[in-house]
Amino acid sequence: MSYEAHFRVWRGDDEKGELVDYPVEVNEGEVVLDIIHRLQQTQAQDLAVRWNCKAGKCGSCSAEINGRPRLMCMTRMSTFEENEVITVTPLRTFPVIRDLVTDVSFNYTKAREIPSFAPPPDLEPGEYRMQQVDVERSQEFRKCIECYLCQNTCHVVRDHEENKENFAGPRYLMRIAELDMHPLDAADRQEAAQDEHGLGYCNITKCCTEVCPEHIKITDNALIPLKERVVDRKYDPVVWLGKKIFKR
Ligand code: SF4
Ligand code: F3S
Ligand code: FES
Repeated sequence: MSYEAHFRVWRGDDEKGELVDYPVEVNEGEVVLDIIHRLQQTQAQDLAVRWNCKAGKCGSCSAEINGRPRLMCMTRMSTFEENEVITVTPLRTFPVIRDLVTDVSFNYTKAREIPSFAPPPDLEPGEYRMQQVDVERSQEFRKCIECYLCQNTCHVVRDHEENKENFAGPRYLMRIAELDMHPLDAADRQEAAQDEHGLGYCNITKCCTEVCPEHIKITDNALIPLKERVVDRKYDPVVWLGKKIFKR
């Protein structure tokens, strides 16, 4: 069964633009990305959109659909009323390059700022051993498809451009948590998380978790445990004494 939907799509860039209305055909089983592609084939051939897998795995097609951050390829048209206006806009937190395509380089910068896995120097590759329980703890975080929906949603940067410099965002704080939980990682992640990557800015609103298409429990399983580790160390009397002695 086909019907005509009413799409309202952002056309423009960071400087200027407008929402443009398009009546467009919808067929059974289609997702929002199918409709955007139909617009490209018909009424809006120069509409810019980023996508790749159409299977919820590449993380490219992130956008805001009726104001909600989602993957366009995983948003079924059947979840909307046929007479509903469906508004598709680019991710709000990042600069718009054109139409639905944003410049997500903020995330690449943040990724580069985190030192990579640092195994103990006396172990050669191939000699690393870890318990299954430790493997499982971080397995969830490795499902991340780098769609940046969490980074786009977190109010710390969404509403405060000025925080971008000092806040890595949920995806990369989760990366630090993953490394900190790794039994063979020898780097000091906790102090860096707090002092350099802005862990303290996170006030556990959990909006990041709500939008994650991989259903990773970013806040409960990564950010809160990382905060607890930082606090435990800060108030651990042995660590406190050690710091005092060595700072002298
Ligand atoms: Fe996307 Fe989830 Fe990864 Fe964030 S943690 S980038 S929402 S997959
Ligand atoms: Fe932001 Fe997620 Fe923390 S939305 S405030 S990083 S819990
Ligand atoms: Fe790959 Fe949507 S096109 S996640």
